[in-house]
Amino acid sequence: MRRIAIINQKGGVGKTTTAVNLAAALARAGRRVCILDLDPQAHATTHLGVEPDGSAPSMYDVLIDSRPLAETRRSVESNLNLVGSDINLAAAEVELAGVVGREVILRDALDADTDKFDFILMDCAPSLGVLTLNALAAATEVFIPLQPHFLALHGLGKLLETTALVAKRINPYLHVSGVILCMYEAATKLTGEVLRDLDAYLEKSRGAAVPWAKAQVFQTRIRRNIKLAESPSFGKSIFAYAPGCNGAEDYAALAAEVMAQTPTVLATRVTVSDRSRAQVVASEAVIL
Ligand SMILES: Nc1ncnc2c1ncn2[C@@H]1O[C@H](COP(=O)(O)OP(=O)(O)OP(=O)(O)O)[C@@H](O)[C@H]1O
Ligand SMILES: [Mg+2]
Repeated sequence: MRRIAIINQKGGVGKTTTAVNLAAALARAGRRVCILDLDPQAHATTHLGVEPDGSAPSMYDVLIDSRPLAETRRSVESNLNLVGSDINLAAAEVELAGVVGREVILRDALDADTDKFDFILMDCAPSLGVLTLNALAAATEVFIPLQPHFLALHGLGKLLETTALVAKRINPYLHVSGVILCMYEAATKLTGEVLRDLDAYLEKSRGAAVPWAKAQVFQTRIRRNIKLAESPSFGKSIFAYAPGCNGAEDYAALAAEVMAQTPTVLATRVTVSDRSRAQVVASEAVIL
């Protein structure tokens, strides 16, 4: 199983669009997929055609009431499941403030879940609060969607530092495995410069003891495509809404790249020693 947190504290960069459409592409390729919507905005939930009106069990019940994931999960398409969000989740940050081990509630819920998936994709809010920390503590990998404009790298350092802190104190399995370029527009001088800076930043860390030492920029660029922006309001993935468009082509190509990574990713994971894992589990460090 690959547990992937899709994070960027910068808003509107394509996290939800990527979570939903990558998940749908993987499901269509025959993989068993579950999306966890960890954003109180509930955009992934809405995008998948589920009303986030608080009437059904959600991620809130998992985090606050220890409800098993199996009781909150629903099937939204063949091979594609969702644990939805709703506005109640906004209160979770405050309600969890005094709870010991609050960062690892989701990890424990996933460990206790007997239903196995090939991919768990976690759609995160544009913040580095306790909900995103739960995703980072539960994940084995991070994907970072990035819009290649001139402020794109602004904040990336902080994001990567957060993954390093989580890897050190809570989750030694955590690796940043990919940067996904979203809303990509035909190569301009500016785009080229941003990509060069990004490559240089990542290259600097090769071989270092940081979670992003092996991070790759995915070859697939998600082009700007109006159909991707339209599909959420119909409650459909791009494959159900407009299967022939560039957006569908790009997310299918990204899914193929992600699936091709799997053997390498799984081989890398076993290099984390059980001892460090045991130490970390014992310490249950609070990093906020
Ligand atoms: N490739 C694309 N082409 C055109 N529009 C896109 C593309 N990707 C995303 N969008 C649109 O851009 C907006 C922001 O995308 P999205 O909601 O995926 O970002 P986000 O990072 O999840 O935002 P937030 O930080 O608020 O959670 C949405 O309206 C979405 O439909
Ligand atoms: Mg979002």
